[in-house]
Amino acid sequence: MKLMITEFHARNILSLRDVSLRFRTKLTALVGSHASGKSNIVKAMYLLKLLLEGKGIRDAITELVETSTKLPFKFDTTRPITLGFTAKVEANECMKLTYELSFRCDREVVEHEVLKLNGQVVAEFRLVGDSSGTLTIYTPSEITQSTTFTIDYPQILDSLSVVTKARRGLESRVVDMVPLLRRCLTVHHFSPESIRSGCELTHITELSYDGSNLASVLHTLLTTNRRKFLEIEKVLQSLIPEVDELATPVHNKNVYIAFRDKSIGDLIPPELVSDGTLRLLAFIIALYLGKQVVVFEEPENCVHPWLYRTLIDLFRKAPCQVIFTTHSPYVLDLLNPEELVIVEKINGETKVRRVDNDPKLLERVRKLLTEGIPLGEVWYSGELGGTP
Ligand SMILES: Nc1ncnc2c1ncn2[C@@H]1O[C@H](COP(=O)(O)OP(=O)(O)OP(=O)(O)O)[C@@H](O)[C@H]1O
Ligand SMILES: [Mg+2]
Repeated sequence: MKLMITEFHARNILSLRDVSLRFRTKLTALVGSHASGKSNIVKAMYLLKLLLEGKGIRDAITELVETSTKLPFKFDTTRPITLGFTAKVEANECMKLTYELSFRCDREVVEHEVLKLNGQVVAEFRLVGDSSGTLTIYTPSEITQSTTFTIDYPQILDSLSVVTKARRGLESRVVDMVPLLRRCLTVHHFSPESIRSGCELTHITELSYDGSNLASVLHTLLTTNRRKFLEIEKVLQSLIPEVDELATPVHNKNVYIAFRDKSIGDLIPPELVSDGTLRLLAFIIALYLGKQVVVFEEPENCVHPWLYRTLIDLFRKAPCQVIFTTHSPYVLDLLNPEELVIVEKINGETKVRRVDNDPKLLERVRKLLTEGIPLGEVWYSGELGGTP
């Protein structure tokens, strides 16, 4: 089963009062000035990822911003926050699945959830009063009957009531998609220091937001899926030829990343591995761990500009959709205008627009490209907006 997010929307979260982003290409780059809201879009996607995985609203918010009062647009905790997406799922047939949930930060419970298949509502949850809610399941096709039953608190405390509680009433083709829906998305902002410091050795297959558990994930792959480990090692070797062998040494129940260097022959200990090598390894692992949609913050950080092409090629070849923020005109030089989303802050609100949504702009950009002006230069000159 293959899944691609075609639309993501967020309301009343951080600087996103009402943002709807459409994805048409395998790769999408978000560009814009400082404080325009690029990271806020990434954070909203990260929150959605946590909720989809079944994390409770309170825990998910704490992981994102520590206190829930910081999360709502302009700190107004009475406004419901809405997060949702539409995905194209290719299984035996091609289906459009839409999931949306709303909650208020001052109550930390799901107020409304809806699941749609090809635009038709198949299940909907609505909070009634403070301590109970109603789940409605719509039976398929021409039978218009609906079944409503009540769910009592605290079952409604967490997200995905619709998906988890409505399971038995849902069409089997929707139920089959649930595991995919739960685990389709991952979001990362890698920090070389967190990766380098190693982590406790545990059996883990999920890579954390900052990559701090990368050594454990890699060690788990080495012991349970050696083929995947070797695949990752091969991709890393193709990017950094000095790397002869990738290793995960264990000391005092902690596991680390180390490399055997071709010219030195010895294992390079984690404290001597370069920032760029650690980040590149983290990208490869994130792209090849089996997620359908991978979101990165500023992937060019710590990576040599000469490797930007390799990085973008890596994104293009990866078996998943890739969405990333960037500040680099050199990275934009490697993209098509159809892959760009301009992020701007207008009157304190984040607004997004795709370059290919404006036919005149797209035509102008294409003309400049045929004249030999690189896309990064076109953006840097202010032609597209999204510059300070
Ligand atoms: N709860 C909130 N309500 C409204 N606006 C907020 C809220 N929280 C943050 N912001 C706005 O979002 C801005 C930060 O946005 P963000 O971090 O997404 O910027 P960015 O585009 O990633 O910038 P950079 O290029 O510097 O990384 C803050 O400066 C503030 O203006
Ligand atoms: Mg940012």
